[in-house]
Amino acid sequence: MSSGKVVGLVMLKTLVESVGYVYYIAVAKASRMRGIGKLLLEDTMRYFKASSVEEVFASVEEDNEPSEALFASEGFTRTSFSEVSKKHGSLHTLNMYREMLVVPGEVLLRRAIT
Ligand SMILES: CC(C)(COP(=O)(O)OP(=O)(O)OC[C@H]1O[C@@H](n2cnc3c(N)ncnc32)[C@H](O)[C@@H]1OP(=O)(O)O)[C@@H](O)C(=O)NCCC(=O)NCCS
Repeated sequence: MSSGKVVGLVMLKTLVESVGYVYYIAVAKASRMRGIGKLLLEDTMRYFKASSVEEVFASVEEDNEPSEALFASEGFTRTSFSEVSKKHGSLHTLNMYREMLVVPGEVLLRRAIT
């Protein structure tokens, strides 16, 4: 909120106990590029860390440069179905992809919480 107006929001999901997901993050057009998205994402990571989450995923459209830049600035990097499967198994990964609603044309981003 800023001066009583909503300027940004973040929607989160916990997929399983140790896996968090940033379902949606957005900042009002007039308030972008002022660090608000970063504040929301920093707060998200604190929240997940306090909830004993060990890794956080986010999906962004392949050509959504602002969004990928925001996640990259918080240490998220691209991952893939096969990479996630190595850790979680393909069935579990498929279920997580369904819950995350990852669709073709989107890339999956991941950051571990230490
Ligand atoms: C993605 C979005 C939330 C970013 O919010 P924001 O408040 O403008 O982001 P910030 O000002 O906190 O910037 C965070 C980082 O991303 C970078 N960034 C933000 N917008 C950028 C742009 N248009 N181009 C390049 N880099 C950009 C900033 O430079 C900053 O990096 P730094 O910390 O290394 O300097 C905003 O652009 C948005 O609401 N987009 C539409 C909704 C959307 O697509 N959401 C993603 C779906 S999950």
